[in-house]
Amino acid sequence: MSQLKQMSHIDSAPPTPGKFKMDKASYFNRVRWHTSLAKLAVWSFVFLGAILIFFLRSPASSPVPADLSRRSLRTYSWGGPVWEKRVRASAQVRSRNGFAVLVTGAAGFVGTHVSAALKRRGDGVLGLDNFNDYYDPSLKRARQGLLERNGVYIVEGDINDEALLRKLFEVVPFTHVMHLAAQAGVRYAMENPGSYVHSNIAGFVNLLEVCKSVNPQPAIVWASSSSVYGLNTKVPFSERDRTDQPASLYAATKKAGEEIAHTYNHIYGLSLTGLRFFTVYGPWGRPDMAYFFFTRDLLKGKPIPIFEAANHGTVARDFTYIDDIVRGCLGALDTAEKSTGSGGKKRGPAQLRVFNLGNTSPVPVSDLVSILERLLKVKAKRNIMKLPRNGDVQFTHANISYAQSELGYKPTTDLQSGLKKFVRWYLNYYSGGKKAVE
Ligand SMILES: NC(=O)c1ccc[n+]([C@@H]2O[C@H](COP(=O)([O-])OP(=O)(O)OC[C@H]3O[C@@H](n4cnc5c(N)ncnc54)[C@H](O)[C@@H]3O)[C@@H](O)[C@H]2O)c1
Ligand SMILES: *[C@@H]1O[C@H](CO)[C@@H](O)[C@H](O)[C@H]1NC(C)=O
Repeated sequence: MSQLKQMSHIDSAPPTPGKFKMDKASYFNRVRWHTSLAKLAVWSFVFLGAILIFFLRSPASSPVPADLSRRSLRTYSWGGPVWEKRVRASAQVRSRNGFAVLVTGAAGFVGTHVSAALKRRGDGVLGLDNFNDYYDPSLKRARQGLLERNGVYIVEGDINDEALLRKLFEVVPFTHVMHLAAQAGVRYAMENPGSYVHSNIAGFVNLLEVCKSVNPQPAIVWASSSSVYGLNTKVPFSERDRTDQPASLYAATKKAGEEIAHTYNHIYGLSLTGLRFFTVYGPWGRPDMAYFFFTRDLLKGKPIPIFEAANHGTVARDFTYIDDIVRGCLGALDTAEKSTGSGGKKRGPAQLRVFNLGNTSPVPVSDLVSILERLLKVKAKRNIMKLPRNGDVQFTHANISYAQSELGYKPTTDLQSGLKKFVRWYLNYYSGGKKAVE
């Protein structure tokens, strides 16, 4: 980066400007001409040298495609023996029959919790995250700090960086990939649609391309979303229900991911499990989600917007506590069969699954506010508003019987007790000078 800056500096400061005064003696003109030529030569060498140094010093770093949001216009540097040693140490398996798991989106909300849980039980874990600023990156850095203290290293990079992914698989033959990196959020899609295509479609394809070509191929568990149920009105949502009427670009990219997963399973024998998360909440959560910013706004005395559907219809969510989601993710990894391909070719049929991970008890958003009022001991200024038609659906409710039978998934935390833990974390985190809490 500093070299780049230097280069542009050189660019904008050209050598002696070519002004020749014809009334001076030709001798002086020639001397001047020679010196400016010499200067030009010197600067050219400096310039070439700078380019050379730039490439020599970062042999393995590759910039992400430049046609994207400003946030992804970054160059990460990686590679080198020290870096490889760190990667290997983090991915070191410590339990018998443990996995070596690459967790994408590890600095994210779910990624942090899943990484910590895997590490705790003795699996090797390596994180990957681009630390984008969709929401406050300092929260991602704090989660990174938490994982670091638990022996998990997060490589800073983009899932679109094919060279980086190949390098990671070269250093560690990952048995599993827990793919959680994505552009989340429903409303932001109208502001920055490209970021959804970049991370949820292009990035996913890039990851699958690398996974299909390595030997052995890893098994992949990845996060889809309950939003694929879109405008469905039949509840509870079951895995076999239609998912062809998404209400947001976010939902459409997750649905696309499910179809892309089908393709890579079909052609290359990759073992793929998609998890449709239902509104996950908890400590270290995402500041763009309602329970999080309601808490912030309640404490500030700001009015809380509560959406209402047509005819005063209740807007409700099947809020799912993070620990339950983590158990579902681990259950999916534990039951994932091996991929069957090798040498980039399918050798037999491979596992392809999709599961709902919800809580099976939808709660009206107004009840969420009431619980927060009690926990925070403040009175909310409720601002009832019509649900805008920009992506949010009225109701989500998961049928989890399939996950129950296949993964042993059984959520145990109700919204009241889960929010209690969230609020405790929130108050601690934001009052303690952003000091990490465990
Ligand atoms: N939290 C929920 O309620 C919920 C619900 C349904 C689905 N999901 C899905 O679960 C997954 C995890 O969600 P979360 O709540 O932890 O979100 P999050 O935003 O906290 O985590 C995602 C992480 O991925 C990283 N990331 C994004 N694009 C990347 C890229 N191109 N390369 C590398 N890293 C990138 C981000 O920096 C972030 O840290 C996502 O796929 C999300 O779509 C979440
Ligand atoms: C839940 O899904 C299962 C299939 O996994 C199905 O047999 C059952 O009928 C569904 N239950 C409801 C109430 O829709």
